[in-house]
Amino acid sequence: TRKPIIPFEEIGPELLSDLVDTFYGKVARHPMLYPIFPDDLTETARKQKQFLTQFLGGPNLYTEEHGHPMLRARHMPFPITYDRAQAWLECMAEAMDEVGLEGKVREDFYNRLILTANHMVNRTGPDE
Ligand code: HEM
Repeated sequence: TRKPIIPFEEIGPELLSDLVDTFYGKVARHPMLYPIFPDDLTETARKQKQFLTQFLGGPNLYTEEHGHPMLRARHMPFPITYDRAQAWLECMAEAMDEVGLEGKVREDFYNRLILTANHMVNRTGPDE
């Protein structure tokens, strides 16, 4: 018998928390992203840690506090173009490099984020 591999258990809460903090540090300085985010990203980062915990197979922290994620609907107020989705993914890839998230667990995680990020695109146009 083989133990099922839960990505959240492989990554662990500390590395996930570092990843999210490093990621929002980059979002806060990205010319294409910071204009649509709040100035204070503390609460955003807290929710993202909850969300990614459950996204990776850990406890359902996001849903317990906020209900069904409905991520595409929750992103509708924000103009997310294809270019912004790619910028989001670039910040995430750089953050993964910086915190040292490597290997298959990173590849699988990142590939799922590509799908989710592209699903968030809700506006056409180069940057609007
Ligand atoms: C919230 C932008 C992709 C998960 C937000 C907010 C913005 C945003 C502006 C609101 C921040 C706030 O008010 O605190 C974007 C952009 C994306 C993107 C430009 C590019 C595609 C994603 C992806 C995920 C995600 C791929 C998940 C893997 C979340 C979560 C929240 C959030 C969990 C908090 C929702 C809540 O208020 O409860 N995002 N996002 N986002 N985003 Fe994204």
